[in-house]
Amino acid sequence: MSRRAQPAPGPARSTRTALLATALCLGLAACGADRGDEAASVGEPGETAHAAPSAPPSAGVEGGDSARAAIGAGATSQAADGVEPAAGRAVTDVPEQPLGPPVDDLMARAQAIFKPIPDRAPDPEGNPVTPAKVDLGRQLWFDGRLSSSGVISCNSCHNIGMGGVDGVPTSIGHGFQKGPRNAPTVFNSVFNVAQFWDGRAADLMEQAKGPIEAAVEMNARPEEVVATLSSMPGYVEQFERAFPGEAEPLSYDNIARAIEAFEVTLVTPNAPFDDYLRGDGEALDEKERRGLAAFMDRGCIACHSGVNLGGTAYFPFGLVSRPGADLLPEGDKGRFEVTRTATDEYVFRAAPLRNVALTAPYFHTGQVWSLHEAVEVMGTAQLGTELTAGEVDDIVAFLGTLTGDQPRMEYPVLPLRGVDTPPPSGY
Ligand code: HEC
Ligand code: HEC
Repeated sequence: MSRRAQPAPGPARSTRTALLATALCLGLAACGADRGDEAASVGEPGETAHAAPSAPPSAGVEGGDSARAAIGAGATSQAADGVEPAAGRAVTDVPEQPLGPPVDDLMARAQAIFKPIPDRAPDPEGNPVTPAKVDLGRQLWFDGRLSSSGVISCNSCHNIGMGGVDGVPTSIGHGFQKGPRNAPTVFNSVFNVAQFWDGRAADLMEQAKGPIEAAVEMNARPEEVVATLSSMPGYVEQFERAFPGEAEPLSYDNIARAIEAFEVTLVTPNAPFDDYLRGDGEALDEKERRGLAAFMDRGCIACHSGVNLGGTAYFPFGLVSRPGADLLPEGDKGRFEVTRTATDEYVFRAAPLRNVALTAPYFHTGQVWSLHEAVEVMGTAQLGTELTAGEVDDIVAFLGTLTGDQPRMEYPVLPLRGVDTPPPSGY
């Protein structure tokens, strides 16, 4: 079957397994993150979903936009000892939260590796999250008029009522074009070290500009979006309120800042696993605890750790055994497109696993509908092992405990178009 992994090219399997072991014993919190500071060369806008905006991702941000996997790094000349948390504006520093005393060894180990989702994420650097900004950002989030067709909003592909995803293999955008990748959830994305499957946007503010401009998504030009919003008195007034004292409150950057402020509020606290981490031994049942133990003992935590159980570092998809072409098509080389470094071919960000039970289909290609199958693929592709049916079942039960409180909000009333508002294109 094509889903079954074939032996991966590159280092022999034993080497790769050894590398994985190395990754396992490295500081798990950062799991191989280092401060790579390759200038991200950006692929042709429009070719990939969420083409990166004109400024290179690393511009203006402090520190690395990329965390390199210890495993990936170890496979080449790059030493794995540059391990330090990746910097950037992304909020990787989850505030310290009091954890109760562990009831047993399993809980103690889990507390050392994972963190609960806090009720509120810290403000991104340089963008204080105010109620006025969040309100405005929510409207922009739901407003199709940010797209050239007038109908595609952020929510079209990151449905707030559906775990922050669109539930299709790869997103459908402008003119019903099918994009190349599956839409990841936006929930808790503030905690990811960088945005996208390949981490090509350093933070949410930069990220927000991508989809607006991407030809296969919202297909709009920055100046068009600014002109459209500026023609609506309701928006003009709100930008003035959200960005007081600024000479030009309604700017493209501030559109992105408002969206970022709203996205920062999209966290999903209080999952059963969070209660467990806080010391409630009963929050997980026996099967779920078995799944947690397998998740740790089998080595999933080499890549999926921290507050989001992933989202912090990059690894080859198919570290041990390359998955079939349906899951890993040749044309999408992942992080290679960002760094142009040969060792980054087919390297992707370890997917964050919060709310994963809600976000099928899985993988960057969105070709796997069953979480059981996704876990099996991880076993063979990343660990070189066939997990037993029981283990897979237990791990899936554990992953189900990562579903937190979903964001609830009132659907916003959007500003009325003004007399000069340009009509949407293509009609
Ligand atoms: C046409 C569908 C579509 C629309 C519209 C869209 N997105 Fe996305 N979004 C995607 C896809 C697909 C990806 C993954 C792309 C990739 O990794 O190359 C993504 C990735 C993201 C991510 C990164 C999450 C992560 O974990 O890395 C964020 C955040 C995000 N989008 C926010 C937005 C915002 C804000 C808007 C509106 C301005 C928006 N999206 C509009 C499809 C869409
Ligand atoms: C060597 C690193 C590594 C290891 C070990 C690993 N993963 Fe992954 N995982 C990844 C990467 C990278 C991806 C993203 C793959 C892609 O590009 O689609 C991923 C994706 C996933 C997904 C899909 C999530 C989604 O939203 O599509 C699941 C589920 C998952 N991993 C679970 C596990 C489990 C369970 C284990 C242990 C059995 C495991 N992983 C071990 C790196 C790893």
